Amino acid sequence: MSLVRKISDDFYYVGGSDIRISLFENHFSTPSGMAYNSYLLLDEKTVLFDTVDKSIAKEFLANLASVLKNRKLDYLVIDHLEPDHSEEIEDVMLRYPEIKLVVNPVSLKMLNLFMQKDMKDSVILINSDSSFSTGKHVFKFIMAPFVHWPEVMVTYDITSKTLFSADAFGTYGINPGNIFADEIDDHNVFFEEMRRYYSNIIGKYGPQVQNLLKSLDCFDIQMVCPLHGPIWRKDICQIFEKYNLWSTYQPESNDVDIIFATMYGHTYDACMDLALRMAEKGLKNIKMFDVSKTNPSYLISEAFRVKTIVLAAPTYNTDIYPAMESFIRDIVARKLMNRNFAIIENGSWAPTSGMKMKNLLANLKNTTILEPSIKLNMRINDENQETEIDALANNIVRSSINDKK
Ligand code: FEO
Repeated sequence: MSLVRKISDDFYYVGGSDIRISLFENHFSTPSGMAYNSYLLLDEKTVLFDTVDKSIAKEFLANLASVLKNRKLDYLVIDHLEPDHSEEIEDVMLRYPEIKLVVNPVSLKMLNLFMQKDMKDSVILINSDSSFSTGKHVFKFIMAPFVHWPEVMVTYDITSKTLFSADAFGTYGINPGNIFADEIDDHNVFFEEMRRYYSNIIGKYGPQVQNLLKSLDCFDIQMVCPLHGPIWRKDICQIFEKYNLWSTYQPESNDVDIIFATMYGHTYDACMDLALRMAEKGLKNIKMFDVSKTNPSYLISEAFRVKTIVLAAPTYNTDIYPAMESFIRDIVARKLMNRNFAIIENGSWAPTSGMKMKNLLANLKNTTILEPSIKLNMRINDENQETEIDALANNIVRSSINDKK
């Protein structure tokens, strides 16, 4: 059985979706599965654009054979070599032994390592000055290092004005038959998952994404074909705007998130006290996340979305509660900047998590710690602490409302 869709004149979708995967990269939650996109061109020459993860190998190879019918496969363009797109290269080469791989010099070096042999006789080497014709279609290659690996490039078809964008503009989730984003009315579903994919997978590489966006400025792009998630034919400017926002580390919203760790509920109680006070002072859209129960990918995505984050954590082994420390290290690794933070620490006899959270946050550029920081010994114990929490609520609400102006 093959599961293919014609996506435009001469181009076919031959990828597929893994509905059973629960953790992408064995780390990021995928409740809606994961799509691995691959595209096939039937021109005077036949061209495959990237392969897929081994989890859908059987379906992919059947798709490919069903569209090619009796034609041979001439070229495989490799935009990205991460295993979720490259694991089927060897199978494709075995089935279509005359194929040439179209790669850039960085890809060739990595390919040699992946294949454990010298691949130079199997490749056509291209670079950003190359023009590659398959008959009716002519392609340009735009190098996009670190969006998301060093060898990444994107491929532009001058003839159909189609961009094969590698990981860029990808999302988590399967393609549910409606392979085009414009076949689903509510694009917010995609934007949420696109942000979660971007912030977790590519979020560290904002400047490199900016370089790619600038390189693409001069191209007339009518269709974007990423390696994950839906194909974009409409609203392309919206996904470019999202990428511009995220890659410059600007928040999408002045909303406030409370991300907390709690062992016996007392730190949570303090967070709820703060949330209620902020709500009474007019703050809307407050979200609360238990760092122990929320897959980190959602927390990182939220950190890219909002302007202000309250971090609340007990002290554990004289350090930060482990799940909270892991989350803060995650956002430091992604070089998140331009955010406000507020700190609530807890510790029965020697609270230290607050100071240690601030030390980690000091690695981020252009951050503000909203005062006062709250120090708890187990629970809210007296009126002074209530007054402090009220003052913190005032400062968070004031800064959120001021930022809106
Ligand atoms: Fe979808 Fe960087 O691989």
